[in-house]
Amino acid sequence: SQRSRTGTATLAAALLALAVLAGGCTEAGGVRGTPGAAGLRDPFFPKLGNGGYDVSHYGLTLAYDPASGRLDGTTEITARAGQDLSAFNLDLAGLTVRGATVDGAPAAYNRAGNELTLRPHEEIPEGAEFRATVTYTGVPEPLTDADGSKEGWLRTAGGAVAVGEPAGSMTWFPGNHHPSDKASYDVTLTLPAGTDGFSNGIRTARRTEPDGRVTTEWHSAEPMASYLATVAIGRYETGTATALGSVPVLTAAEPPVAAGSAALRGEIPGILARQVERFGPYPFSAAGAIVTRDGTLGYALETQTRPVFPSASFDRTTLVHELAHQWFGNSVTPADWRDIWLNEGFATYAEWLYAEEYEHVPARTHFARAFAQDANWAFPPAAPPSAENLFDPPVYQRGAMVLHKLRETVGDRVFDEILRGWAAKYRHANATTGDFTAYAESVAGRDLDALWDVWLYGDGKPDRP
Ligand code: ARG
Ligand code: ZN
Repeated sequence: SQRSRTGTATLAAALLALAVLAGGCTEAGGVRGTPGAAGLRDPFFPKLGNGGYDVSHYGLTLAYDPASGRLDGTTEITARAGQDLSAFNLDLAGLTVRGATVDGAPAAYNRAGNELTLRPHEEIPEGAEFRATVTYTGVPEPLTDADGSKEGWLRTAGGAVAVGEPAGSMTWFPGNHHPSDKASYDVTLTLPAGTDGFSNGIRTARRTEPDGRVTTEWHSAEPMASYLATVAIGRYETGTATALGSVPVLTAAEPPVAAGSAALRGEIPGILARQVERFGPYPFSAAGAIVTRDGTLGYALETQTRPVFPSASFDRTTLVHELAHQWFGNSVTPADWRDIWLNEGFATYAEWLYAEEYEHVPARTHFARAFAQDANWAFPPAAPPSAENLFDPPVYQRGAMVLHKLRETVGDRVFDEILRGWAAKYRHANATTGDFTAYAESVAGRDLDALWDVWLYGDGKPDRP
């Protein structure tokens, strides 16, 4: 859609003169805009994301040459202005920007650190939908996380895999890289003949270009946080199936790990069917997994619809964990990174539930084991002390312990209703820890402060489990 523009040239000139006199920053068009904020003040990553606009769609057009490592990209963002905007930022790490447009007109741009500032030719009025494109090139470099792990665009023998939790997606496309701004995606990947490419969602096209390269197109209709965007490029063997009666399952594994991972890849429809019983309707229109040779990825990641695994961690427990994230993390997404236990505590508890129902290990056995481990008591799950600790044991294990205590307190039936209702109420949205405690109390019909004070927010280990 188009925003309306008002004012004749004369009026604009008069206004501009007035603005200059007043020391303002009005440009032609008559809107008195200000720049969008350079960050969303996340407690751990204050500069991540950007203020002043909300993205509804990303169109990523990517061409990659595995031999040189060079990526040529165009990112088209469809967004709505939340204020009169004279300029706005995108997060981008490395790479060279070749050009930018806003609503088809060339836009000025500037880079400082991981901030790319676009200054549209005409200011964007509050409420207007706009399209921004950024064309860029270069050899993407991964980032090193606060916890020492590598993320972003990771090169492999003959290709690359992109994983972005928490901040790595800025290494391969400019965007509003905070989990609070979710959007739909289209990814177009052009690769040399003989190189396969995968991304999130449904593959909607595959064609050979006149120059012999092969293009695939991938569509994610449901909103996705940018840290969950992925591509996997290289040589892969694929498997297909249908889950839940209608959800296409596409798995891909690098040849050396394809045979060894095939049986477990084949379990995806069965695991999803069990999780739907527990968590409610599957939130996405595609499913799958990507399994890579070891040596590139430091961890498995629940990339939306199609989680990625280094083959060493492609086991049933981790698969159950990453599939559970499709509900908890991917559909219901934390409002900021401090709420990460809403992802990891829930996905860990999903492992305990799975073991209880299908492997005859009661959740209380997992709870007792976690209670006994010193590493789990370093900090409360709802308050990681720093970015370095976002993926530490207390977030996973104490997070799951909170849910187990909740279950003991309210009983199995109400607990089930809370899990399913939480996934339904915040489906495809963002939520905070406070949203969860309030929701659980509303379903339970009682105050649960004593539980939260000790298990969710309390320092140190309680005397009794
Ligand atoms: N979310 C991943 C999981 O399911 C872990 C990601 C770890 N990220 C990191 N930067 N250490 O367990
Ligand atoms: Zn996880």
